[in-house]
This record gives sequence, structure tokens and C-alpha cells, in this order.
Amino acid sequence: MLLSLFALLNSCGSLPSFARNQSIPYDCFAPGDVYNDTDGNLIQAHGGQISQYTYQENGETVTKYVWIGEDRKNGYYAEVNAYSSTDLYNWDFEGTILKRVPSMEAIDEDSYFNSLYSSLTLREREDLLKAIGPTSVIERPKLLYNAKNDNYVLWFHQDGYSSVNDYYRYGTGNAAVAVSDSIFGPYRFIASHRLNYVTDGFNANPNSLGEARDMNLFLDDDNQAYIVYTSENNKSLFISRLNEDYTDLAVPASLAKEGEDFTRIFPNAMREAPVLTKYDGRYYLMSSSTTGWMSNSARVYSSDTIFGKYVNDGNPCVGNGKMVTFDTQSTSIFKYGEQYIYLGDRWDSQDLRDSRYVFLPITFEDAKMQIRYYSKWNLKGERI
Ligand code: DGJ
Repeated sequence: MLLSLFALLNSCGSLPSFARNQSIPYDCFAPGDVYNDTDGNLIQAHGGQISQYTYQENGETVTKYVWIGEDRKNGYYAEVNAYSSTDLYNWDFEGTILKRVPSMEAIDEDSYFNSLYSSLTLREREDLLKAIGPTSVIERPKLLYNAKNDNYVLWFHQDGYSSVNDYYRYGTGNAAVAVSDSIFGPYRFIASHRLNYVTDGFNANPNSLGEARDMNLFLDDDNQAYIVYTSENNKSLFISRLNEDYTDLAVPASLAKEGEDFTRIFPNAMREAPVLTKYDGRYYLMSSSTTGWMSNSARVYSSDTIFGKYVNDGNPCVGNGKMVTFDTQSTSIFKYGEQYIYLGDRWDSQDLRDSRYVFLPITFEDAKMQIRYYSKWNLKGERI
């Protein structure tokens, strides 16, 4: 026992944060610590997603973890970055996979944007600039591989000033989609739209149907994909089925039926930052409350079926810091073998670029998700 604690302190626990850089490969998770990529630059993948993919790299088939997320090096106006890793500790920067279009001229004059968007009409170019232009909001990007089309589909929360709301940065409330044949892009924006809604009189925001803000994706065992999002002015969570291409709703919002094509979970509960995962056949939907960039208490809803009756399992966090999710907000849950891992953002609203990442192991006890805090831990099961 003493020996293994000593080994852990030597390999990980005794390293001061400034030593955890490119010259010494990481061999553990240190929640909230400075986290550099293998070039020694601060990892920029906030509000992100980690998942394992098999893809072609230099003519070879490789299986790696891929982390995509918001590049906040310019503060508010994010683009989407990608990183890859074989061990989940050390991450290679793979580039900016979704870039915002700087101007109308760039579509003609910049070869990067010209190759993606030259065929668009003037109207479509205007829509493109509204969606991913200089002042658009791009948040919480999430990625799926689509086996039917052998391509990659990137969804994100797309927002910005709307024609009726020119003072509020989140006046649009859309979900947007971009596609690429290669996992590391470039991704071509194709659409930004509202999603499913209810009109039964209980809609918390009936004048703005189908809003989508914080969002996530979920791929079920049968390859059916779903988009999970907060709607109704951040008051109600929805899960909607996507089409076979994963690029749109399975059924247009005007025709979609609650319970068949989508579900609305705990209306008015004011939850955001949704992450859906499945353990032992049961669906677990983790979310935060809605307090801007400030941490708050997480909650898990669970159900035996994806559109079924979700029950409130309460706060999954255990121990000191549980009331503020260990000063994080949920963004991704992924698996390393049989180990489920939580990834949360520790936002710094004054300097979004320096927002930190918190990786923590998840356990399931009596069919309830639980997250405990460790200041250092590794995938060999050592935790302090
Ligand atoms: C909380 C959300 O979860 C973030 O993605 C971001 O939209 C902030 N709110 C903005 O205040």
C-alpha cells in the first residue's frame, strides 16, 4: 500500500504543475491543472467531446481518442479544434477543424473558404456569415462518424444577435451542422436551425419555438443518433432523433410527435450542459443548472428507454465540492475499456482561454451514477 502510494507520488503526484509540460509526458490526470498539448501549447478544446475513432492516418488505419472542443484563444469568438491521443493523457494538436468565415470577400479570396463555399448563392453566403461569421457564437461542438456515408458530422450550438434581438448575444438559439469526409476536416457548414418543440400550452417559451442552446450528441448501440439540447429559453431539455445521415432531424419539427420522434424531459427544470450516456442498458442524462459560467449542482435523470420516463436520480457528485460539481460544468462522458470518465469544464469567465479541464472517473452504484473527486489519478486505478 505504502509502496504504491510512493510510486504514484513519484510518477504523478509530486510533479508541480509547471513541470507537466511537453518535456515530460503526462502519466496521470490532474484535474484543473494547466494542460498542454504535445507541442507545449495550452489545450484549447472547451465545451468539448472525447470519443474513440478508427481512421486513416498517413495511409495507415489507426484507432485513437479524439478530443474536439472550443478554441477560446480569442476569448468569446470560438472556433473548433481537434486533438488526438492514444493514452488519453498526451494530446497531439490536429488543427482547427471548423473555422469562422471572416468576411464575404474571404469566400472568394481565401482558398480555404473558397474551396468550401464557392458554390453558394449570395443569400446562402449571407446565411453562412450570420451562422459562423465574425460575431457568431459557436459553442459545445460534438462529432459523430456516419457509417452509411463514411463521413463525419459536426453539430454545435450556433447563436448570435438576431433581427429581433440585436442586443443579446444568444438571440438566435440554433443548432448547426457541418460535415467532412476526413475526421480532422475541414468541416463545411451546411445548416443552422431550430429543432423540435411542443405547442400544448406548456411550452416555457411559446414565442420562440424549437430553440437549441447547450447541446450534445448520443449514438445508440443500433447506430441511431440523437441530439440532446436545452430549449424553451434554457428551461427544458429535449432529446430528438436524427436522420440516417445525422445531418437533420429524423422528422421535420412541424410533423414530429412527442414520444415517437423526440422527448421533453422535466419541463421548466432549467437544466443545460446535457451529456447522455448508457450503462448496462439504462440511459443516464447528466446536466447542470443554468448559472452562466458559474458552477452549480449537477443532476442525473435516468430511464430504461431513450424516450421513456426519466426519473430524477439527483446529484451524481459525492464528497467535498459536490454542490458545485467540483467547480465544473458537464461536457462529455466517454469510456476507456469498461471505465466511464467524466470531462467537465472549469470555466474562467474573465479569461475563457484559460478555462481548465477536469477528468474524473465515474462509477455506477445501485444503478446510480457517481462521481468522486481525486486531485491526481490514473487509468491503472491509482487515486489520491
Ligand atoms: C453556460 C453554457 O453551458 C456555456 O456553454 C455558455 O453558453 C455559457 N452559459 C454562456 O454564459
